[in-house]
Amino acid sequence: MIEQFKKDVVNGLGQTPKSIPSKYFYDALGDALFIKIMNMPEYYPTKAELEIFREKNDEMIQALSMEKDVFFELIELGAGNGTKTKHLLNNLLQKGYDFSYLPIDISSTALDDLEYKLEHEFPGLDVRKMHGDYFNVLETLKTNNHPKVILFLGSNIGNLTDENSAKFIYQIGANLKPNDKLILGVDLIKSEDLVRPAYDDPHGITKDFNLNLLTRINKELGGRFDVSKFDHVPEYYMNEGIARSYLVSSTDQEIRIEGLDRSFSFEKGERIQTEISRKYNDEIMKNILRETDFRIVSKLTDQKGYFADFILNRS
Ligand code: AVI
Repeated sequence: MIEQFKKDVVNGLGQTPKSIPSKYFYDALGDALFIKIMNMPEYYPTKAELEIFREKNDEMIQALSMEKDVFFELIELGAGNGTKTKHLLNNLLQKGYDFSYLPIDISSTALDDLEYKLEHEFPGLDVRKMHGDYFNVLETLKTNNHPKVILFLGSNIGNLTDENSAKFIYQIGANLKPNDKLILGVDLIKSEDLVRPAYDDPHGITKDFNLNLLTRINKELGGRFDVSKFDHVPEYYMNEGIARSYLVSSTDQEIRIEGLDRSFSFEKGERIQTEISRKYNDEIMKNILRETDFRIVSKLTDQKGYFADFILNRS
């Protein structure tokens, strides 16, 4: 992990324009800041998707068309605290479906907490937590013949380029069988006045989240970044539909990173791209899915049309 981090930082800061992969946001502090982001009034995606899971889980279950008497596995990639999924679990149990819930996460603490909560809330539910990398775990599950429903929520797919999203979804499908399902949660393209505050909040939480990348390089790689000399600069244009986050150097500076035995120079105003958050419409979604073995069965949205959960069928 640390070797990969080193490689990605050397490559990312050594090129023009500079970038650092957004997956490095998520150390313990980054996880805590992301929870704060999800609770901010400005960050609408979490609330909109929660509404879909709360209000539309009958339609969701219908679209999945699972047979009541055939056991299936409900597998969640990056389960987190399971707040949205609980509504679906509750309804499936009430309707008498025969299934196990398999949350996959790279954080074993998150999985332990989730298991503890679910055991108390749904004593009849079989929870099998799976710790590790999504594809390694899916690979191990591939060997059994149970029908599968995969959940990938929160528009996490949006942090990948369209090309990499197609590869990622294709790879999920490669671990499934015909008629297995994928529930894919995506943020929809909407106006700048709604999207920008979600990535440029007045509380400064997203700023701290973004700057934490530099703090993490300082902590783990012996970096000498002075975070006060970088600004958090988000950008979003509706015609493009991609929110981008940057860290912008407020001065000319040379930064030493001991663990890499390298220094990197920054000009005043020079940007490091730290994240893309793709927003979708039907056309973009269809183009991505064209490169995969999934077809759209149904699209569920919240009342305001901010967010969608696509129910996809593996052909
Ligand atoms: C995890 N991911 C879908 C979030 C997003 O909206 O792209 C991460 C995030 N970045 C800034 N705010 C939230």
